[in-house]
Amino acid sequence: MTMKGVTKLGTMQLKVMDLDESIAHYVNIVGLDLVERVGKTAYLKAYDEFGKWSIALHESDSPGMVDMGWQVRSDADLDRFAARVADLGIDVKEHAAGSKNGVGRRIAFVLPTGHAMELYADMEMAEDHPGIHNPDLWRKPPHGARSQKLDHCLLYGDDLDGTFRVFKEALDFDLTETGFDGDTRIMAFFTCSNRAHDVAFVRFPEAGRLHHCAFKLDSWGDVGHAADLFTQQNVSVDIGPTRHGITRGQTIYFFDPSGNRNETFAGGYEWYPDHPTRTWDPDQFGKAIFYYERALNDRFMGVVT
Ligand SMILES: [Fe+2]
Repeated sequence: MTMKGVTKLGTMQLKVMDLDESIAHYVNIVGLDLVERVGKTAYLKAYDEFGKWSIALHESDSPGMVDMGWQVRSDADLDRFAARVADLGIDVKEHAAGSKNGVGRRIAFVLPTGHAMELYADMEMAEDHPGIHNPDLWRKPPHGARSQKLDHCLLYGDDLDGTFRVFKEALDFDLTETGFDGDTRIMAFFTCSNRAHDVAFVRFPEAGRLHHCAFKLDSWGDVGHAADLFTQQNVSVDIGPTRHGITRGQTIYFFDPSGNRNETFAGGYEWYPDHPTRTWDPDQFGKAIFYYERALNDRFMGVVT
């Protein structure tokens, strides 16, 4: 597959309430590495990522998401996507290279669901990047939950139809799975690659909410290893190990010390552009989200940051 346009989720900035405690969680539990700490912000990355950082933690008085950063194939894509997002009536700002740690020129806008998005073409390569000449699997053994990379996010917000148009009509994402209640779209799972999803949205009364950010694990075996670690380290677990009907991914949901939900995610099918969108009915949403339990729980539906 030749990936064009938006190629991947590259960065995510989170608000956390205690920076030291949060760094310990994302390093020792999630398994990221600390890249650098600048004032009240910490930059981290997973061992299999080439970019300088993928997660930024900002000390704040409340949890939640600051923004998501999407990498595009070329600098010219930034102008093209800026025009297409603006055509939908959304205000688009441009930021100069270097104004965000290690990131080149960016365009920024807020989705109708209230979530801040940025697009960039260039990012500095990490000093501790994966090997590229006779490479080993990793430079030092993976630690914590052995997260390989930032995988995807699920966001909750009110104007799902407006955000749907941005991803479909302006950013050229494919809709892999969706769910309706009558004529109302309840959820939308999007990919910009050949993965089962890179971002997903669920309709929710409040704008701008983060449901979870997910990190990729290698296998079901590593999901089991993460479950062992989370119990041994007394991590606050939401649910899992279990499996999704949507994407078929293998999962554990858990919380960081500020209450932001994290996920460890393995597996998931491959998507190709000729595939039809899979659709779920409301009486099957339980199986869609938790394939083994076949029922949703109130915490999963209502606890967001
Ligand atoms: Fe997820």
